[in-house]
Amino acid sequence: MTGKQRESEFRFLAEPADVNFGGKVHGGMVMKWIDQAGYAAAVGWSGRYCVTVAVGGIQFVTPILIGDLVIVRCKLIRTGRTSMHFAVDVVARDLRTAEERLATSCVIVFVAMEEGTPAAVPAWRPTTDADRRLAERAQKLQELSRAMEDQVAHFGEPTDPSSGSVAQAQRGLTACRPKSAAPKP
Ligand SMILES: CC(C)(COP(=O)(O)OP(=O)(O)OC[C@H]1O[C@@H](n2cnc3c(N)ncnc32)[C@H](O)[C@@H]1OP(=O)(O)O)[C@@H](O)C(=O)NCCC(=O)NCCS
Repeated sequence: MTGKQRESEFRFLAEPADVNFGGKVHGGMVMKWIDQAGYAAAVGWSGRYCVTVAVGGIQFVTPILIGDLVIVRCKLIRTGRTSMHFAVDVVARDLRTAEERLATSCVIVFVAMEEGTPAAVPAWRPTTDADRRLAERAQKLQELSRAMEDQVAHFGEPTDPSSGSVAQAQRGLTACRPKSAAPKP
């Protein structure tokens, strides 16, 4: 069955427990659903345990409301040696009107694992122009994501030892500690 099912779908109702202080579904809950649906799709494609390695281009377009039918659609758009890239759309359907709204979209990347190390996955090869374009976009997104990850990795670094953010954070932590716990001079 591995390497066969490229598209999959989760469907369920948005429940009161999913809601935030503003009465809409938590962004974190939507990310959990994306991760779960992506995990199921990745394990189904690879036949192996998989881990999430990256999420790219996530956008929260419209809110999801309690009682909406939530549809999480995953479509494989690229495979590497050990990685699988899925385009994910989260759609909210108002059951009374059948109106559907795109709530969130992103690309989520999973890596198949075997005994703690990345393992090969069945290759997906695009055969239509539309799929070739999707695969190219996934490749481009990966390059952009890597560049952004590189930028983010440097946010915590001090620009110089006395004025950087790490030094500031350390000063802040010291200031917040109770006097008895403060380091001795
Ligand atoms: C996933 C993990 C094993 C990859 O380890 P690694 O040392 O980077 O391994 P590799 O360099 O061999 O990369 C493995 C694959 O991941 C891909 N990858 C690694 N980092 C990536 C990133 N930031 N974005 C997209 N793909 C990435 C590589 O391109 C490679 O894909 P390929 O084999 O198809 O070319 C490691 O990063 C990890 O354990 N991460 C934590 C995962 C996790 O805890 N997830 C949350 C809970 S499930």
